[in-house]
Amino acid sequence: MSALTLINLENVSKDYTMGEVEVNALSDLSLEIEKGKFVVLIGPSGTGKSTLLNLISAIDTPSNGRILIEGVDITFLTRKQRAQFRRHKIGFIFQFFNLIPTLTAVENVEFGLALVGVTDSSGNISYSTKDIHSTAMDWLDKVGLAHRARHFPSQMSGGEQQRVAIARALAKNPPIIIADEPTGNLDFRTGIKILKLMKELNKETQKTFVIATHNSQLAKIADFVISLQMGGVETYEQIPHDDLDNLIW
Ligand SMILES: Nc1ncnc2c1ncn2[C@@H]1O[C@H](COP(=O)(O)OP(=O)(O)O)[C@@H](O)[C@H]1O
Ligand SMILES: [Mg+2]
Repeated sequence: MSALTLINLENVSKDYTMGEVEVNALSDLSLEIEKGKFVVLIGPSGTGKSTLLNLISAIDTPSNGRILIEGVDITFLTRKQRAQFRRHKIGFIFQFFNLIPTLTAVENVEFGLALVGVTDSSGNISYSTKDIHSTAMDWLDKVGLAHRARHFPSQMSGGEQQRVAIARALAKNPPIIIADEPTGNLDFRTGIKILKLMKELNKETQKTFVIATHNSQLAKIADFVISLQMGGVETYEQIPHDDLDNLIW
């Protein structure tokens, strides 16, 4: 494991039991992801992409093998410890945005921050309503949505809702941002804009992004690709194709 390794999977398998039937979603998967990478996880539907994201996020636990995040083994954490881990280490972006419908855009971002607080440049944590509000507003501004702060999810387009979800994920300052099919519910143009925003935020914040998609074209925008196929996994580094406007899918 190199000093840059942030996420490390060692011989990880995941089986699901459904009644009498055992489904092997991942088998004997080993890989390392370095800090600050823009990772795209590709593979057809059913190849275990969501399963892998859920394991990295400690939403679920592996059937075999170990998972280390920042050098810490998260494999055997209790349910409570896993919740704590997710709260501080993972920002999750969903296909269907998953905003709270009864809260405005800024309240959705504040809600995510209330439990972790806001850390200033000298490392002090504040839980004050004022600090949480101003951090949430800063993040809405960064995703280009300050003018929608008081709108409810039902009053925003899909692309706008996904921007709020991105602000919510990043505001709490986790080292890892996970996105499961983040453009899956958006039209092509809006999807491109969301990907561009995520790439910009990756460069600016140096957070590690892991994005799952069934669209193999999106592998081109990654600097590290994990390709899950029926026959196994392939990983590779590459110089990303930055011209997203000319990406066709
Ligand atoms: N909670 C679950 N219970 C049973 N089987 C599951 C569960 N989640 C996923 N699977 C199965 O595991 C395999 C991988 O699923 P998934 O990780 O969702 O793939 P992907 O995200 O690549 O489409 C599929 O065969 C799927 O049906
Ligand atoms: Mg999936």
